[in-house]
Amino acid sequence: MQPSYNKRLDKLRERIKKAEIDTLLVSDARNIFYLSGSNGGYTGAKVMLIVDANTSTLIIDKRYLAETMESAVVDTITAWTEPSYGDIVALLKGSGVKKVGFESTHVTVKQYERLVKEFDAIQLVGVAGLIEPVREVKDRHEITKITDAAAIGDTTFDYITGILRPGMTEIEISIEIDFFMRKHGAERPSFDTIVASGIHSAVPHATPSSKKIEVGDFVTLDFGAVVDGYHSDMTRTVVIGRASGKQKDIYAKVLEAQIAALDAVVPGKVCRDLDAVARDIIAEAGYGENFVHSLGHGVGLDVHEAPTLAKGNEAMLAEAMVVTVEPGIYINGFGGVRIEDLVVVTRSGREVLTLSTKDLLEL
Ligand code: GLY
Ligand code: MN
Ligand code: MN
Repeated sequence: MQPSYNKRLDKLRERIKKAEIDTLLVSDARNIFYLSGSNGGYTGAKVMLIVDANTSTLIIDKRYLAETMESAVVDTITAWTEPSYGDIVALLKGSGVKKVGFESTHVTVKQYERLVKEFDAIQLVGVAGLIEPVREVKDRHEITKITDAAAIGDTTFDYITGILRPGMTEIEISIEIDFFMRKHGAERPSFDTIVASGIHSAVPHATPSSKKIEVGDFVTLDFGAVVDGYHSDMTRTVVIGRASGKQKDIYAKVLEAQIAALDAVVPGKVCRDLDAVARDIIAEAGYGENFVHSLGHGVGLDVHEAPTLAKGNEAMLAEAMVVTVEPGIYINGFGGVRIEDLVVVTRSGREVLTLSTKDLLEL
C-alpha cells in the first residue's frame, strides 16, 4: 500500500495557510520523506522540498537524482546547479511569492545566514511545528511498517534469549542483536542498541561495554528495527540464573506500573496523566526517585518524536498515535529494570505491537 502523499500535503497546506506564509521550504530529511517518499534525503544529500498552495518541488543533489526520481511523488524534481539557495530563489521568482517559511528547528545558523543573503527581497520567516504534529497521527501504511518493525524486535528477542550465556560481553550481545535484526529485514537498528548488565543496568541508556554477563545479573535489552523508514522500540529485562527476592520485587513493581499505564492508553488521555499512572505506582512502592525518565514517547520516522508521555505535557492522545510505554526502576550499585512496549492508540483503547513475554525470564 502506497501512502497518500496528497492527503499529507493537504493537511500541511492548511497549516501553511494558517501560518500566513505562501511557501514552506522543508529541509528536514524525515519531513521530506514523509511528504514525498523521497529516499534521497536519507543519504545525507543536499535536498529541499518546496511546498506552496498548489505545487510541490524537490530540489536535490545531482548524485541522488536517479534514486529520487524513482522514489519521490512530487510535481517537479530538479537538481541543484550548485548547492546554493540562489537556485530556490530562481524557482520562486516569477510566482509572486512574498513570504517564505523555513523550518526553524532544522536549519543551522550558517544555513540561515546563507538563506537570508540569497532571499534578499523575499521575506523569510522561521516556522516550527508545521509538519511534526501531522506526523503524530499515523496512517495505515505507517502503522503497517511500525508493526513489521516491532515484529522483527520480537523475533530478535526470542533469538537473543536463546543464546544469552554467562561470559558473553555486552558488546557481543549487542552485535548479535543488530546482526540478527539486519538479517531479518531491518534496514538498520532504530538507535544504538542498549545491553546493560548487572550494576550497569542501573544506567537507563548505558552503552554496551566489554563487561561479561554473570550469574545473578539483570540484563536490560533495549533495541528496535527500522523498516522502510519506520522505527520500533522495545525493552525487556531478564535475569541470568535465579532471580533474587529483591530482583523479583523490583521487576514486579515495574511490570505492574507498565501494565497499568498500558491499560490507561486511550484517545483523549492527557500525556501527563498517563505518565502519572505508572509514576504513582512506582512512587508508592518507595521508588519514586528511581524512575528517572519520562514514561514514553511517540515513534515513527523518528524513534523519539511527539507526543512525549511526560510530567509537563498536557497534550492528549489521539487515535492512530504510536507511543512507547516504558517505566523503569534504577538503583545505583544494584541494577535496574525497564519494560518497554510499543502501542498504537485505537478508537477505544490500544493495541500492543511488541508481543514478547513480560514474565521475568531466568536464563
Ligand atoms: N532506547 C531509547 C528509548 O527507549 O527511548
Ligand atoms: Mn527503547
Ligand atoms: Mn523508547
